[in-house]
Amino acid sequence: MGLSRSKQKAPVAPATTLFLFGAHGDLVKRLLMPALYNLFRDGLVGENLHIVGVDHNTVSDADFAKKLEDFIRQEAANKVAQGGEEPLDPALWGSLAKRITYITGDFLDDGTYADIDAKIKNTGTQNAVFYLATAPRFFSEVTKRLGSSGLMVEGEDYFRRVVIEKPFGHDLPSAVALNSCLLKVMSEKQIYRIDHYLGKETVQNILVSRFSNGLFESFWNNHYIDHVQITAAETVGVETRGSFYETTGALRDMVPNHLFQLLAMVAMEPPAAFGADAVRGEKAKVVGAIRPWSEMEALANSVRGQYSESTIGDKSVPGYRQEDRVDPESNTETYVALKVMIDNWRWVGVPFYLRTGKRMSVRDTEIAICFKPAPYAQFRDTDVDRVEPNFLKIQIQPDEGMWFDLQAKKPGPTLDMQTIELGFAYKDFFEMQPSTGYETLIYDCLTGDQTLFQRADNIENGWRAVQPFIDAWAKDPHVEMYNAGEDGPSGADELLARDGRSWQRLG
Ligand code: BG6
Repeated sequence: MGLSRSKQKAPVAPATTLFLFGAHGDLVKRLLMPALYNLFRDGLVGENLHIVGVDHNTVSDADFAKKLEDFIRQEAANKVAQGGEEPLDPALWGSLAKRITYITGDFLDDGTYADIDAKIKNTGTQNAVFYLATAPRFFSEVTKRLGSSGLMVEGEDYFRRVVIEKPFGHDLPSAVALNSCLLKVMSEKQIYRIDHYLGKETVQNILVSRFSNGLFESFWNNHYIDHVQITAAETVGVETRGSFYETTGALRDMVPNHLFQLLAMVAMEPPAAFGADAVRGEKAKVVGAIRPWSEMEALANSVRGQYSESTIGDKSVPGYRQEDRVDPESNTETYVALKVMIDNWRWVGVPFYLRTGKRMSVRDTEIAICFKPAPYAQFRDTDVDRVEPNFLKIQIQPDEGMWFDLQAKKPGPTLDMQTIELGFAYKDFFEMQPSTGYETLIYDCLTGDQTLFQRADNIENGWRAVQPFIDAWAKDPHVEMYNAGEDGPSGADELLARDGRSWQRLG
C-alpha cells in the first residue's frame, strides 16, 4: 500500500508482535482493531501477527478479546443498519482473536517491560512494534523505558519500531524535546509518527494526481494560481474530550498536523522518487518555507472562534463553555482561520487560507484552488463584464473526489454564462472496501515503509510555523463566538474580504 508500492504486489506483512499501549482506550477499539481486522480480511496480515494489549486494568486475555469483539460487532451492526459496510464475520474474527493477548502493567513500571520481553520470546518472532495509543504524557516515559530495557535493539534479521499518535508535542519546544528523547534511544528509521490524514486515499491521491498528470504541473504555480483555501469543517462538538480540548484547542489539534499535511501535499515540489526519504524531504522543505509571522502579523492573520449554544434542526446544542469538563469562562478556540504565505519561487505571493472548526453546518474537508481570472472579459457588446475565476476542488471527505469549476455558455441566443463542474467522484470509478484509514498506516509500519509518516523535521517545521499564533494569542486571549451549526465567526469572512476574496461555500 503506501505510495511506493503497487497494491497488486502488496505482500503479506512479516510475522510481528504488535503491542498496543493504552489497550483500553478509544483508539484501540474504534480504529486500530477494526483496521487490523480489515487487514486480516484482505490477507495483508497473516496468522503470524500477534496482538498484545498493554494497560493497567487487570483482565484476562479472553476477556480483553471479548470486549473488543463486542464493541466491533456492535459498531459494524450499527453501520449495516444505516445501509453500509459488512457485519463482523465470526469465523474471521475467531481466527484473529486467537492471537490477541493482554499484559496488565503500569507504563512507568520496569516490570511491564520485562513482561513484554518475555512475551516476545514466546511468540516465535523477534519483530516487534510498540504502538503508543496512550495519553501524550506517556510518550517519552514509555519510549525511555523501551530503550533502557533493551527492547529497541534491532538484530540483522528483525526490527523494533515505535508508533506515536498525535498530539506530538503542544508547541515547538515540547516537540523538539520529544524528538530528542526518542532519538536518544532509537533511530529515525524506527519511529513512525502517525497523522491519520495520510491514511486517507483522497490525501494520497493529491500526490498521484499532481505527479502523474503532466497537465497539472503546467499551471501549478503563482503565475496561474491566485490563492488556496484548505478547510476541515466538522459538525461534531468536543464530545467527551472536554479536558483534552481545553488545553489543546483547534489550532494545536488540527493545524500543524492535518491541515499542514494537506498544504504540503498541494504545495511540495515533485520528489525525486516515491520513497520515504524523497517524499518526506520535500514535505519538510515546503512546510519549512511557511513564512514565520511576527506576533503582530500572527494576530492580524488569524481569527479564533468558539461555538455557542444554539438549535440545530429541532435539537438544542450546548455551547463549548457548557460542555463537560470545560471551564465556563474558557477562551479555548473551537474554530480557527489563518492566512499563511509560502516563501519559495513556486508560491511567492499566493496566500494559503486555512480554516477548521467544530460544530459547523456540514462535515466538509476540502482544498479549493482558485485560479487567476482570464485577463479580461473579452465579450464586447455583451452583458458579460466579469468572468468568475476557475476553482479546482479536491474533496477529501465526505463525497470524495475532484471537481473543476468552468464557465460555459448557457444555450440560447444571448451570451449568458454559467459555472459548470467537471467532476470525478471516487464512488463512480472505484469500489472501496470498508476501511478506517488506519489500515494503510498499520500495514506500512509492519512492512517498514515510512513514506506516510512524519519525520522529525516535518513536525518541527509545522510547530515553528504555528508558534507565533500560540505566542500572540497567549498575550491576547480572545475568541469570537459563533452559533453552533454556523460556519465560524464573521471575522473569518473579514480575513479574506480584506484581500478582496471570499471563502468557498461549504458542502
Ligand atoms: C483528530 C482530532 O486528530 O482529527 C479531532 O483530534 C478531529 O478533534 C479529527 O475531530 C478529525 O479527523 P477526521 O478524519 O474525522 O477528519
